[in-house]
Amino acid sequence: MRKIGLCVLLLFTIQLLEAQEIPSVYKNLGKDKNGVYMQLPRGKIYANPVNDLFHFQDLNGNPVGTSQGINLDFKFPKLQGTLYYGFINYADGSYPQPVYFREASPIINGKSTIPIAKNLSGKYDMIHWETTGLGVLGYRIVTEKGYLLYDGKLAFSHRKEKFTAEPTLVEGPFVNKLSPSSVVISFTTTQRVTSNILVNDKTYKGKKAALKQEILIDGLQAKKQYNYTLQIGKFKFTYTFETAPLPGSREKFTFAYSSDSRSGMGAGERDMYGTNAYIVKRIAALAKSENAKFVQFTGDLIDGYDNSKERMNLQYSNWKHAVEPYWHHIPFMIGFGNHEAHSYIFDDTIRGFSFLIDHFPFKDASGESLFQDNFALPENGPHSEDGSSYDPNPKKQDFPSYKESVYWYAYDNVAIVVLNSDYNYTPIGVKHLGGNIHGFIMDNQMKWLEKTLQDLDNNENIDHIFISIHTPFFPNGGHVKDDMWYKGNNAWRPVINGQPHELGIIQRRDELLDIIINKTKKTVALLTGDEHNYNMLPITDEMSRYPDNYKGTKLKLNRIFYQINNGAAGAPYYAQEVTPWMNHLQKFSTQNALVLIDVDGSKVFVRVLNPDTLELIEAYPLRE
Ligand SMILES: [Fe+2]
Repeated sequence: MRKIGLCVLLLFTIQLLEAQEIPSVYKNLGKDKNGVYMQLPRGKIYANPVNDLFHFQDLNGNPVGTSQGINLDFKFPKLQGTLYYGFINYADGSYPQPVYFREASPIINGKSTIPIAKNLSGKYDMIHWETTGLGVLGYRIVTEKGYLLYDGKLAFSHRKEKFTAEPTLVEGPFVNKLSPSSVVISFTTTQRVTSNILVNDKTYKGKKAALKQEILIDGLQAKKQYNYTLQIGKFKFTYTFETAPLPGSREKFTFAYSSDSRSGMGAGERDMYGTNAYIVKRIAALAKSENAKFVQFTGDLIDGYDNSKERMNLQYSNWKHAVEPYWHHIPFMIGFGNHEAHSYIFDDTIRGFSFLIDHFPFKDASGESLFQDNFALPENGPHSEDGSSYDPNPKKQDFPSYKESVYWYAYDNVAIVVLNSDYNYTPIGVKHLGGNIHGFIMDNQMKWLEKTLQDLDNNENIDHIFISIHTPFFPNGGHVKDDMWYKGNNAWRPVINGQPHELGIIQRRDELLDIIINKTKKTVALLTGDEHNYNMLPITDEMSRYPDNYKGTKLKLNRIFYQINNGAAGAPYYAQEVTPWMNHLQKFSTQNALVLIDVDGSKVFVRVLNPDTLELIEAYPLRE
């Protein structure tokens, strides 16, 4: 009897522990020894297995030196293909990239070799490894079907007729969090190794314990160019950044905006495992050559929507590598989109579709946490939706973090406020499972936005505020079915712990318009994406923006405002659709585009260029 009692107690405790692993924002979810499942009246659907064919870190090749070169093992037995390789000459130009050798090596059962001594010596030794004993190779993994999987790097030394694989700087250094007096340099290495950054004879030390590092470089002068040298083991890498001007200097400068670079059609670098590396690299190069001081890039960097951290990290890495040569010098400020979703996927084989929800535990296995792991962005946003009126457990963390996906920053007299409209995102199944919908800004983020805009309106150094958000308020081509319109259906809203939010998507859109346009004077434009085209919409009170027979309160707008949509960084295009506001649209283009915003004191001017052909798509003043 006592034993039975103990067993019941144990079973209850196990069930309670398992139940606690399911975030309270969700309903109809459970977990047992077979994994996470969703409950339907007809039974359980278990989340799809991850099915990892490789681990992202193993694509660094687990290199082993020999007398002839370096052997690589990607620990990916199903991988057959070709390994292209070549030296990276860091002394030759400001934007180092591999220069591929004329021959390649086969990849057989996930293994390959780089014959440095035989192929890359003599007239092919353009980095002088034969005299210095040091070198860095770039390599490209291409599958047997010609699909581009990954661009890696590999540092080596050569001594006494033997090559040795050295700890490698595999991502970065990247310039982040630019201010008038400081910058944060981030980078990733393949091994835990001593690192430091030298700026103006001052050494800033890294942490040996971490593969991913962020080093604060402070005590700098405003609007000054600095060389910085990152030392990783035996290797040194020197680049240049320029600190921001003092707030309110009101000097002329340019910044760049784009989004939506997930992989496109056309194969090759347009479809480099998760990202359109070709177009996003052209965008980065054009932004730098136009002397943009920073690039805002708001969402859908990668294909995402994946249940594997390994594959998601590979996709993020491919994006970072595509813009890396330019990110050494200027910051890329990244926003969160729907394709940054890292999901549990439940296949409903009977009805022929899949349910998707934000992966958990939210702390270290959500779309939000993966995003945080991959970037070094400002941390001045709201904490989470915990503490809101719909928080299921006020004493417990129930929601993902907003850290690094909601933030603001300033450069001179401009402030950019970056929002996350795909937070706690449930792509399919919100009514049954709960979570948030595409395009809906939840309450805590709204409160933070209103307070931040008030502060910036009262900040005498700020003249112009831009709001960057992945989802347009007024979609025009590709996302008329959702974003902040849902074909005019206000019924769409988040569901938390089984409770639908009190407001629908169109009501929430109007609250945002009220805060941004009516209650704030300095806001200039929304910088949006999601729709894979460039379009420009002047928003006025006269513009139709409600469905027929709309029952809710209609908002009056007290001034003109602009929505600049540039989701044209390489994802597959969408054509223009019919909307109530379509006659207001100033421009619609399916060309790839980079928006360049020229700020000159009180004036703001926009130029839109095709990063591939360099043709001017359009140009216009926003503030004269
Ligand atoms: Fe999107």
